[in-house]
Amino acid sequence: MKESSDIQITLALSKGRIFEETMPLLAEAGIQVMENPEKSRKLIIPTSSPNLRLLILRASDVPTYVQYGAADLGIAGKDVLIEHSAQHPGSLYQPIDLNIAKCKLSVAVRKDFNYVNAVKQGARLRVATKYVKLTREYFATKGVYVDIIKLYGSMELAPLVGLADAIVDVVSTGDTLRVNGLVPVEDIMQISSRLVVNRASLKNRGDKLKPLMDAFYKASN
Ligand code: ATP
Ligand code: PRP
Repeated sequence: MKESSDIQITLALSKGRIFEETMPLLAEAGIQVMENPEKSRKLIIPTSSPNLRLLILRASDVPTYVQYGAADLGIAGKDVLIEHSAQHPGSLYQPIDLNIAKCKLSVAVRKDFNYVNAVKQGARLRVATKYVKLTREYFATKGVYVDIIKLYGSMELAPLVGLADAIVDVVSTGDTLRVNGLVPVEDIMQISSRLVVNRASLKNRGDKLKPLMDAFYKASN
């Protein structure tokens, strides 16, 4: 059994959809994960490769662990990476689109809210979102004045209780919008998850990281 200090590569990712969609990519590289983070409370998970371990984090914390070198590699959505880069521009190397956890970032409103008309009339909109940077940039480019209300989840609730006129959130099947009486009115961008790499790790131990990075590239493209 290797001591954790001998482990050469640390990969940070979140449980749920990113973990589930990463497992087949690791399997193609011949790597199995030794515990299921949905069942175990462990936050450091060994793999069948003695040189690779996983850290299980909140999705939005993955870029931070990689930026500071607590993990060499990470997997995070483009939404999370863009928001992180607002505070820490250029802090992460983002070489590979893994084409997993695909969704769209969209603007949505209540079915009875006339969004097109509100925009046409130059109304100031209240927009609830956890994607503050993306939302600010999107509406600034459109020339629409917005007051952004930062939330951490369940954005769909905000228009239903009068907290906001619109939300900016990720949409996949559209079921969450539908069951809450909301409709998408504009798509902002397509989202998928990327492999991100700590810049110092790449420089100093690129030879150790390269085989896994190559395997991720092959499995996802
Ligand atoms: P946090 O726990 O930090 O609040 P989160 O709840 O958004 O993050 P997940 O729901 O696991 O974390 O989402 C991880 C990533 O998966 C998101 O950053 C986004 O890129 C993508 N994603 C989110 N929702 C969906 C969805 N319904 N379908 C496909 N991909 C999604
Ligand atoms: C995400 C997102 C939407 C939903 C969209 O939530 O915040 O609410 O997915 O997916 P749909 O279009 O397929 O309904 P998620 O399922 O991750 O829940 P959470 O972020 O609250 O954990």
